[in-house]
Formats: sequence, structure tokens, C-alpha cells
Amino acid sequence: MKKFVLAAASIAALALVGPASAQSPIVIKFSHVVATNTPKGQGAEKFKELAEKYTNGKVKVEVYPNSQLYKDKEEVEALQLGAVQMLAPSLAKFGPLGVKEFEVFDLPYILPDKAALGRITKGPIGKALLAKLEPKGITGLAYWDNGFKIMTANKPMIHVADFQGLKMRIQSSKVLEAQFRALGAIPQVLAFSEVYQAMQTGVIDGNENTPSNCYTQKMHEVQKHATISNHGYIGYAVIVNKKFWDGLPADVKPQVQKAMDEATEFANSISQKENDDAIAAMKKAGTTQFHDQTPAEKEEWKKALQPVVDEMATRVGKDLIESFQKEANAKTN
Ligand code: LMR
Repeated sequence: MKKFVLAAASIAALALVGPASAQSPIVIKFSHVVATNTPKGQGAEKFKELAEKYTNGKVKVEVYPNSQLYKDKEEVEALQLGAVQMLAPSLAKFGPLGVKEFEVFDLPYILPDKAALGRITKGPIGKALLAKLEPKGITGLAYWDNGFKIMTANKPMIHVADFQGLKMRIQSSKVLEAQFRALGAIPQVLAFSEVYQAMQTGVIDGNENTPSNCYTQKMHEVQKHATISNHGYIGYAVIVNKKFWDGLPADVKPQVQKAMDEATEFANSISQKENDDAIAAMKKAGTTQFHDQTPAEKEEWKKALQPVVDEMATRVGKDLIESFQKEANAKTN
């Protein structure tokens, strides 16, 4: 009788475990630090929708926005450890991982426009940069756009002298550090999730970011002034744990790749509008005074920031900077 009960229990257990495990989906945890209503946030949601659809539910994507799981630095460590499978960190956050070449994107005025961005990210330079992640146990899948940056603080930032002594939050990029030092400001690395509070309490005076990031973090509530300077760029590399990616079953991987390709097109197609809408919404809120730079003011900033390019050549790579500039400024017709 005892034997029978044991056998029955095993069969019951098998019945429970067997079919369930055959059906249990492969879970992709996608962690990021921004709000859902941003270009990256929506790109992640689109990827979830498409990956689950194309794999008929064999893959389940769990998106964790707003640093819910991890902050800037921890998320990359979590990816390497396999605690999450997918991230899309800003290109300014790969230095601590030892891939400092991505900081070429942070150089002031390096990208004249979005067409140049497309040539870089879709061409050999973009591919070579992603390949540098492989030895770190990371596979780079795509570039997602956000946009050009504005400056915010509690005082107007018209001339270079206005930055003197301002405590400006930066992402963990040495290029951004050099940029603010060149302006006479004091750069401070801070996780994205901590920026609003640091502004509110006066730990920092301001920051540079895309309008969409400023708006969705409500920075306009605690920043009286903004200059639409477009002096630099924020974009992302969508990255996945290499071991996880390489181990995806052959009947699943192409569908996930297809979902990623389409989510990439989607994210990149909405980024400009998201940022334009964010500026309009912040202007409407009326708590921040916006300054549109004149061409002469832009020249003044450019002149002050030009030395940063030479100064950072040893860190980022002189050849990389040169080929990047060549491609960025190439005539397309
Ligand atoms: C920041 O940390 O300022 C941003 O890059 C955050 C993000 O992911 O857009």
C-alpha cells in the first residue's frame, strides 16, 4: 500500500512537473532606469509585445522600468551575473565596464544630426563597438535612440561663464566629466534615479539630459532654467547576457531577434517626437524658463568645449574619434 501511495504520488508529481516544465516559458528580465513613457521605455514594451507574440509565448519578457530592480551601476553587474538578461544602458555608462570607447558618443557636438547617428550605429563603427562587449560576457543587439541634450539648472545658462562653480550631475563618463570641467562647472556622477531628489535638496545645481528624461523625472518641478543647447547626445546599446543569448533554442532565437529588430525601428521612430512633446509639456507647466540658444552663443560653447575632444583622445582612441567624425560629417548625396 505504502509503495502504491509513493508510486501514485510520483506519477502525480510527474504530471504536475512534466507538462508544466515543457511549457514554462523562457523568461527575459529587461531592466532599465527610465520611465515607461520614454523612447527606451516604450521600446522595451514593444520588444515584450513582439517577442511574446512571435514565439507564441515560448518567451516571456518581464520589463522592470524606473530602476525598480537595479540602479545604473548595479544593472550591468546583474546582467553579467545573469540576474537579469537584458538592459539598454546609455552609451555613457560603459566606461566602468572597461569599454570606454562608447564614450566617443559623449563628445560635445560630435553628432551633427540623426542621419549621422544612423550611419554610425548601422555601419562598421557601431558594429565594432558592440563587438567589444563580447569578452565581457555581453552581446550587443541594437542601438536605440533617445536624443540631444538640454542643460537645466536654477539659474540661466547663456554664456560659458554662467557654468562657473555649478554642481552638475553626470553619468559615469570621463568625457562628460571633462566637458563640465571645460565649462568651469563641478561634475558629479550620480545614478539617474537619484537626480530629482539631489536637485530638490540642492546636492546638485543641475544636469544635462534629454527633454524626455527631464520631463518624465519631473525635473522641471525643481529646475527654474533650461537651455536648449543640443550640445551632446544620449542613446543606448541594447545588451543581453551572452551565455543566455547563445543558449537560446534554435526555434526561438530568430523570433526574438526579429522582435528586437522591429522594436528597434519602433523606438527609433518615436524618439524625436517624444522629446519634442516633452519640451512642449515642460513649457506648458510654466515652472522652467527655456532659452533657445542663438548661433553666437552656440559658437561660444563650442569653442570652450573643443579642447575636450583632444583631451579625451587618449581615453577614447584618436583613430576612433577621427573615423567617427569622418562618418558623422560625410556628405550623403
Ligand atoms: C541618465 O542617466 O541620465 C540617462 O542616460 C538615463 C537613461 O537611461 O536615459
